[in-house]
Amino acid sequence: MASPLRLGMLTSMNHRRPTTFDRFHYGVCYYPEHWDDATRREDAARMAAAGVTVVRLGEFSWDLFEPEEGKFDFSFYDRVLPELHRHGISVIMGTPTAAAPRWLTVKHPGIHRVDAKGVAQVHGSRQHLCTGNAVFRDYSKRITAAMATHFKAAPNVIGWQTDNEFNCHFAECHCASCQTGFAAWTKARYGTIAALNTAWGNAFWAQTLNDFSQVTTPRDQLPTWQNPSARLDYLRFVADRVADFQHDQVKLLRAADPRWFIMHNGTFWGIDYHGRFTTDLDVLGVDLYPGFAAPADKARWHAWACDRTRAYGGNFVVPEQQAGPGGQGNYLHSTLEPGEMRQQVYTSIGRGCDQLLHFRWRSCRFGAEEYWCGILDHDNVPRRRYAELSRIGNELKRVGPAVLGTYVHIDCAVASVPLEVNAADGVISHGLPGPERMGETVHQALLEGKYAVGCVHPADDLAGLKLYVIPHWAAFDPAWIPGLTRWVEAGGTLVLGARCGQRRLDNNHVTDQTFPGVFRPLAGITVEEYQRLNTGHIPTTFALDGATIAADQWCEQLVCTTATSLATWTSRFFAGSPAVTVNRVGAGRVVYVGTYLMAPVIRALLPMLSALAGLTPQVPGVPDVVEVVQRTDGKRTLWFLINHGDVAATVPMAPAGTDLVTGTVRSAGPLTLDPWGVAVLQP
Ligand code: GAL
Repeated sequence: MASPLRLGMLTSMNHRRPTTFDRFHYGVCYYPEHWDDATRREDAARMAAAGVTVVRLGEFSWDLFEPEEGKFDFSFYDRVLPELHRHGISVIMGTPTAAAPRWLTVKHPGIHRVDAKGVAQVHGSRQHLCTGNAVFRDYSKRITAAMATHFKAAPNVIGWQTDNEFNCHFAECHCASCQTGFAAWTKARYGTIAALNTAWGNAFWAQTLNDFSQVTTPRDQLPTWQNPSARLDYLRFVADRVADFQHDQVKLLRAADPRWFIMHNGTFWGIDYHGRFTTDLDVLGVDLYPGFAAPADKARWHAWACDRTRAYGGNFVVPEQQAGPGGQGNYLHSTLEPGEMRQQVYTSIGRGCDQLLHFRWRSCRFGAEEYWCGILDHDNVPRRRYAELSRIGNELKRVGPAVLGTYVHIDCAVASVPLEVNAADGVISHGLPGPERMGETVHQALLEGKYAVGCVHPADDLAGLKLYVIPHWAAFDPAWIPGLTRWVEAGGTLVLGARCGQRRLDNNHVTDQTFPGVFRPLAGITVEEYQRLNTGHIPTTFALDGATIAADQWCEQLVCTTATSLATWTSRFFAGSPAVTVNRVGAGRVVYVGTYLMAPVIRALLPMLSALAGLTPQVPGVPDVVEVVQRTDGKRTLWFLINHGDVAATVPMAPAGTDLVTGTVRSAGPLTLDPWGVAVLQP
């Protein structure tokens, strides 16, 4: 039954890239090693009856697979896998390197991660080892090779997950091997110590180095602010290190069986998801726990998590999605309402998911996640979560095949932030919200407007977008300007937020050009004065269409070179000078906003921006509580209408078509969704 799922390698970061899965798999994360035979006996049959077609296994079982160094034992899984196979259930195996066995840490205590204060992590939880450490990399390769060799004989293993949520607990490491590793990394980047001294601006605070052996990892606040150029390079090194560690495993898995697909479950800090970390995989995964958001914020949180993931590599898989309330140490999420788990499945699928598994099959009775609730409770009694899983499993037999091959249609997007841009800003942020946070804020406003919104990297294909917002990217790569310019010239509306273009992305120095640096020709303005608006500052306001809007976080006094003013400052010494401008560029335009696009500001500007861009909501009159999203292959469109509330909601002008969820055909007009209800309409 092994489905030959070999996917195309990711070759670009095209946000519209569909997967090439031949089947929509739905399933659960399964930990058979936590249960005795009696409890486990019915598992596979119950899963299959609910429509489960895939499980993920083994990502925390290194101690089971290699109980003593070099003694591999897969006999337990050799009993579990055939049982799943008998019930038609496929398997995604996990390389178990997020939690190494105790014999390894006893033998090599030096492979523990070390935090910025020099404190080594200890055995007893997970992610305690340094992925840059050569000794650990060696053990990681050995267990990966042993598993790959062993499980290639298993007919129902279809793919692999590398490790588990790299960097989910922390990204940095300052161990001895990272010191030498970083020194070597800087030597490879700069060649000569003189070049490094210039790039890092080491003339400041007497930081000049004599040779590469003197390079150390920069550790902030010991005792005060570190060099922002060195910190940016260190974060690049951190990202390279984890990509290398993953690559070791990917190479071995591909060599063992090229039919397997390989994914990783993100997304976390310190990983360059736009780079080779992702292109090394067949498809990227994102773990989704909307329970971490406040109830009123879940819909927005979920949409953002999916949209930003799509920007990394197109459609994605969800290796873990909330099944019940999750809890660890000092917190426990609210219980999901009846129907909410199903609603969350359709939100993920609507926004680009091509395979989804719930975390976890059954709540565990021991360990750090005793109350991380699965489909079945601790007592193994199927209750409403199992009934809901079965309902979804059944529906996906119709909906699943229809979504494969389609991508998410978007009309507008916020810029997807590369790790480097975020890091460059974060190491010298002045307490301002970073590019990622601001992207999220703008995304929310576009989502609330019911526009078809996504997230796209500036070097990706912007064709088809009407509006594109780069919120506040102080550091920007000039190589991205020509593509942006071509898209604007062809008719696009680009919105730039204050502080764009202030710094160089290569070395994190302030540009020698008048702000907004590389954006000047596009924006048609220069920045005369700028100011951080601290708490209690003298209010700075601008007028727009008769309304007075307060600047937030930051303000800039603009001078038009080729642009014209759309809104003028009305207070302080800024009064009378432009606050918001527009510059015609070919058939398009560039709007520059001289303050931060905080929620009240972007909401106030949006009517004007959408009018300029010719952007309209996807369906008119949609209630706030209903999410609308479209998947298409260019020929057919699937309309996802999703109610995020616990009362029924009516969409007054829903499209005609077959509702794939129920199989019923409907004509255009009002459509009432049950509480947490969904419709997937295919016209
Ligand atoms: C994820 C992780 C799982 C489990 C789950 C619930 O972050 O991958 O192993 O810990 O959260 O906490």
